[in-house]
Amino acid sequence: MSAPAIDLARIPRHVAVIMDGNGRWAKARGLPRILGHQAGVKTVRTVCETARELGVGVLTLYAFSVENWKRPEEETSALMGLLNEYLRRELLTMMKNEIRLGVVGDLAGLPEDVQKQLNSVIEETRGNNKMLLNLALNYGGRAEIVQAVQKIAREVKAGRLNPEQIDEETINHSLYTAGQPDPDLLIRTSGEMRVSNFLLWQISYAEIYITQKLWPDFTRDDLIKAIAEYQKRDRRFGASE
Ligand code: IPE
Ligand code: IPE
Ligand code: MG
Repeated sequence: MSAPAIDLARIPRHVAVIMDGNGRWAKARGLPRILGHQAGVKTVRTVCETARELGVGVLTLYAFSVENWKRPEEETSALMGLLNEYLRRELLTMMKNEIRLGVVGDLAGLPEDVQKQLNSVIEETRGNNKMLLNLALNYGGRAEIVQAVQKIAREVKAGRLNPEQIDEETINHSLYTAGQPDPDLLIRTSGEMRVSNFLLWQISYAEIYITQKLWPDFTRDDLIKAIAEYQKRDRRFGASE
């Protein structure tokens, strides 16, 4: 099926993706899970390139959750290795396409070599402004809210903030996504109907699109299809008309 037509004037400003199904993709082929993750990296490249081309401002990809540490060490270390390799290989493309890298999640909990690699790409790409690519790494929505509450409590304790002044903006500014628009569109691949602790605060009014396609099978046309579907939605934000 070819890609449906989309209105380039109404591209979601922020697209967030729960990249799921790498393990099932590998299993269906009798391959080890890690080869599914490897195949998933190719999809990351395609989706990133397509989003940038369509004019998406922020693309947030859920790559590793705080709960993913429950997986066997063999899998988590292979994932960290893939991430390192991806960052090393991708820098040139990011520079060429003027993509800025950001991270949402607890960086300090990642292996040191990964932290170094991330910090270096974040630094190198700092001046790029065509699209922000956020990688959600060691990310948990509840953990993000906990660290925001701690930050705010410290401000109150230091006498710089009154509890009565705390509003939604205070919380927005204390999240990993400070200063970024909320996701307009949340995509999840592989058919799972759950949020899995992703951007809990930020997705309050995101349009949700779930596809049966496994992440390694998700294509450029699938992203366009998700955006076409998003453009058909009637976003009311609680209003009645
Ligand atoms: C998503 O694929 C990638 C990560 C969570 C890192 P999964 O590894 O969760 O694949 P399934 O859900 O087992 O198929
Ligand atoms: C969500 O997928 C996390 C990422 C995509 C990184 P999971 O596969 O970990 O989620 P559950 O276990 O199906 O909820
Ligand atoms: Mg999964």
